[in-house]
Amino acid sequence: MDVVKALRDDVYRRPLDTALERLGIGPGWRCVDVGAGGGDVSVALAEIVGATGRVYAVDSDPRARDETAAAAAAHSQVVAITQAGEDLLLPELVDLAFCRFLLMHVVDPSVVLNRMRKAVKAGGWVVAQEPITSAGRVGGAQMSMPDAPHPDVGALLPALARKAGLEIVDAWAEAPAGAGPGPVAEYLESLTGVDPGEDPVVLPPLVTVVGRAPTG
Ligand SMILES: C[S@@+](CC[C@H](N)C(=O)[O-])C[C@H]1O[C@@H](n2cnc3c(N)ncnc32)[C@H](O)[C@@H]1O
Repeated sequence: MDVVKALRDDVYRRPLDTALERLGIGPGWRCVDVGAGGGDVSVALAEIVGATGRVYAVDSDPRARDETAAAAAAHSQVVAITQAGEDLLLPELVDLAFCRFLLMHVVDPSVVLNRMRKAVKAGGWVVAQEPITSAGRVGGAQMSMPDAPHPDVGALLPALARKAGLEIVDAWAEAPAGAGPGPVAEYLESLTGVDPGEDPVVLPPLVTVVGRAPTG
């Protein structure tokens, strides 16, 4: 697992836990993690849904499938698939479609959210966690934007979810923050190559939308 990814899992783990708690997710659930990357979220989901559940870890990059397969070696309920979110099609409807740090990278976030809504059962859950990159601060100054098509897509996420036909059950923003040595400073340094020293850091807030597909 690369260092940036391990740090991201650490500093952004709290919004993930908060979102999963909202759902009442448990053993036997079927889930898809779209844009699964190295599979951190897929493994977290697999631990919750257990051996009777299933987690489809979907990513357009075949290297992600190999990484996820390695990360989830102890979890046979994780099925790693190479597929674009725009073409999302699974062997069964799922209880939960999840994505994190994905929509910022795709051409049209609405297309992917629509596919995620169609991938869940009637009344199923769609959870997206995306950043507002420009709202991050280092020493009080605005962070520079990464090279992504939609670095601030988090700011639009509730509206995008409604447009995709989802009922918004909950939505909020959370940002890891810190000053001096620690995981927040390390994460920033891994992204930018610059150690913030004693400067206060607020990492880009992650907007979470917990949405529900229509029941009928
Ligand atoms: C920043 S990583 C996030 C990984 C993971 N979701 C996490 O939060 O740790 C973005 C991932 O989305 C994948 N990705 C980018 N565009 C995609 C698309 N159109 N469909 C599916 N996956 C895509 C990339 O290959 C990459 O693995």
